[in-house]
Amino acid sequence: MSREGKKSSRKLRSQAWFDNPASPDMTALYLEAYMNYGLSLDELQSGKPIIGIAQTGSDLSPCNRHHLTLAARIRDGVREAGGVPIEFPVHPIQETGKRPTAGLDRNLAYMALVEVLYGYPIDGVVLTIGCDKTTPACLMAAATVDIPAIALSVGPMLNGWHEGRRMGAGTVVWKAREMMAAGDLDKEEVIKLVASAAPSTGYCNTMGTATTMNSLVEAMGMSLPGSAAIPAPHRDRAECAYWTGRQIVEMVHADRKPSDILTRKAFENAIRVNSAIGGSTNAPIHLIAIARHMGVALSIDDWQTYGRDIPMLVNMQPVGEYLGEDYFRAGGVPAVVAELMKHGLIHEDALTANGRTIGENYRDAKSLDQDVIRPYDRPVKERAGFTVLRGNLFDNAIMKTSAISEDFRRRYLSNPDDPEAFEGVAVCFDGPEDYRARIDDPTLDVSERSILIMRGAGPIGYPGGAEVVNMRAPSMLIRAGIASLPCIGDGRQSGTSGSPSILNASPEAAANGGLALLRTGDRIRIDLKVGEVNVLLDEEELTRRRRELLERGGYPYPESQTPWQELQRGVVGGLGDGAVLEPAVKYQKIAQKFGVPRDNH
Ligand code: FES
Ligand code: MG
Repeated sequence: MSREGKKSSRKLRSQAWFDNPASPDMTALYLEAYMNYGLSLDELQSGKPIIGIAQTGSDLSPCNRHHLTLAARIRDGVREAGGVPIEFPVHPIQETGKRPTAGLDRNLAYMALVEVLYGYPIDGVVLTIGCDKTTPACLMAAATVDIPAIALSVGPMLNGWHEGRRMGAGTVVWKAREMMAAGDLDKEEVIKLVASAAPSTGYCNTMGTATTMNSLVEAMGMSLPGSAAIPAPHRDRAECAYWTGRQIVEMVHADRKPSDILTRKAFENAIRVNSAIGGSTNAPIHLIAIARHMGVALSIDDWQTYGRDIPMLVNMQPVGEYLGEDYFRAGGVPAVVAELMKHGLIHEDALTANGRTIGENYRDAKSLDQDVIRPYDRPVKERAGFTVLRGNLFDNAIMKTSAISEDFRRRYLSNPDDPEAFEGVAVCFDGPEDYRARIDDPTLDVSERSILIMRGAGPIGYPGGAEVVNMRAPSMLIRAGIASLPCIGDGRQSGTSGSPSILNASPEAAANGGLALLRTGDRIRIDLKVGEVNVLLDEEELTRRRRELLERGGYPYPESQTPWQELQRGVVGGLGDGAVLEPAVKYQKIAQKFGVPRDNH
């Protein structure tokens, strides 16, 4: 009946449930439950690794839904390598469908997955990643528990097309909003246009947060080399699921854990790759969160130190032209890493899931289409990483320098005496509803010299951190040819947006950060060269405003609507620190630290 598998030389944690001579009665109780759907005594007691398949796909999570099919091939691989697969659901997170924001759910899925991985007989796990928040949630949990883990990406959708042009999922929405504001598109046309961008199962085909995070997971060595970019419907995707299933069994035998792979070197590699792919502004939040749960020191400043000067090589929307299928055909992550390696920008000795180093895995890779994945000396943009900004409005915020358009540069950054700085006048909005209600109001005092401010959109204020900082300009200005205004906010923005906003500002207004003191009409100076954003008010005035704010009870935000909103608000940190559940960070490598949990009955 059962296939022969290699018995581990170590005692596996699942044996504490299924083969524990010290408590035969408890062993019987555990076996009773897990045999009752058809697993045999032999499978459970032969010392074969029990492999969890953390299933993130469901009808509620269409981006990851293809994992329901891929799981069959993961199981095949696990079986062939001599393991026993056990599939279980992860709390669903769908980026665009979840209200008030999927940002609220990342930490909830994280926490629940920690309980599952720690509290059940699981020796290793396949993390089925894809849609934006599913990836960090899974990796954060694997880091905390620290049992062998490998990620399988669901892969991007096929390319979207509309009237002969590539249409990128997500990115098309921001475009459609501008076209509607300019009166170029009616309601039905908007739906048609947006739907054209998403022609198949898989995650967004742009270089949004999903493509970014799936690429970075591969670059950190947590998935098989060459796996991230394979489009979801391709046959290679199912084959990759099979090899991933085989690999995790080998990882359990080798006891190769996240802590062996997710080292400081892996994160530095990921930061550089993020610049080279033109990655999402959500990446720092998620990578810092994973690093903190792994116990690796990583700060927002590392993004500027390691990432800012790296050129953007991958010519993908929102900043570039192409989409996921093109990225795959041009060589995906291996081609990008190999190009950076040639210039000494990758720690080649970082270990990966297959037991080989990054250098060994990628040395022979190369770009197969040099317009899609550019050579280092002919990039899409020079110095394409994030600029980290600070000043009297916040301790840290970031800006995706690669998203600065030529038009924006000409209008704001072309003063010959002060080429990377400009001043503007604040127009403050408290949350996206306030913004939507007033942005096209003819009485709103707004001009080309305005800076739009979004506050109340952080992890506490929104709650969860909304992707609303990329605010479109008033339709009146768009019609006059001014496509965008500078934006600053304490929320996030979609990775599919090409807006050069200053975002993720921490501490947020709801934590009484500096943005809470700002008033419409205040002058703000932005200096990208020195990395500063300051409201031009003296210390005395700021102190007076702060006192008044605190007397009023602090910056107001809407009441919690669910138990989780309230619980998370009480313990969540700022975006600059990964927006993690702060009390969770001290729980590290718990499978080693505590062994297995106590019996219950
Ligand atoms: Fe799920 Fe873009 S909305 S990947
Ligand atoms: Mg998003």
